[in-house]
Amino acid sequence: MNLAVETPCGSERLIEFNAVRSLESPELLHRHAVLWRLPAGTAICTTSDLAGRLVPGISPFLHHPAYPDGVFRCQLEEDDQAKYTANRRSELPFHSDMALFPEPPSVTLIRCIAPEPGPPPSDGAILLLHIEALMDALDHAERYDLVAFLREPRRLSFVDGTTTTAPMVPAPVGSAPLRVFERIEGQLPMLERHMLRQVLSFCHSLGPTLIRIPLAAGYVVGLSNRHFLHSRAACASTARVTEIFLGNIQSG
Ligand SMILES: [Fe+2]
Repeated sequence: MNLAVETPCGSERLIEFNAVRSLESPELLHRHAVLWRLPAGTAICTTSDLAGRLVPGISPFLHHPAYPDGVFRCQLEEDDQAKYTANRRSELPFHSDMALFPEPPSVTLIRCIAPEPGPPPSDGAILLLHIEALMDALDHAERYDLVAFLREPRRLSFVDGTTTTAPMVPAPVGSAPLRVFERIEGQLPMLERHMLRQVLSFCHSLGPTLIRIPLAAGYVVGLSNRHFLHSRAACASTARVTEIFLGNIQSG
């Protein structure tokens, strides 16, 4: 039985399903993140297969060597041993995925294989923030300097050596990739590095505006990488394993 149920974290931007239910309209991901709670037997599916069932028409993002078929298996490690930021045990800053690639994936799916057993706040929960909610909150806080900082087109260098001129947050939202990522800091003048840190810190201060999703085995979180920033709470251990599928949908 497919159910859309009330979210436990009080967000009108999260839709939940208790079954393997395909998104009939991928545009749903523009304003809503999705949490699928999958039945136990679904575990036999590969994450690539599962992504195709949940988001029909999705194609894998194949430009990162750690995602050979669009899937990255994220097994946590102690911070000083982690090759990739995503594998760190400590809290991850808010970001959009693959911000330093010319064409970032439009959709991120995060499938929980093994949850972090620790209690909040060190439970490895996924944290989501719709970019419009962030911009509204900055405006409300009269941080017009940070709004302008995020909206200002700037020269960016990509991992392949190419460059572009683009803002971190395009207008209108969704018309181009989000490029919010702590490692962009290295391309910014000193004053703007400080502003980026202020933005990322501000994200974590938003409390009820954040969608907080503690993961259990079989949970899959889906989000538009053009409309949501995401982060991950710290983990009390290195038990947490997820598989992350990055992909594109035509409407993304
Ligand atoms: Fe990410």
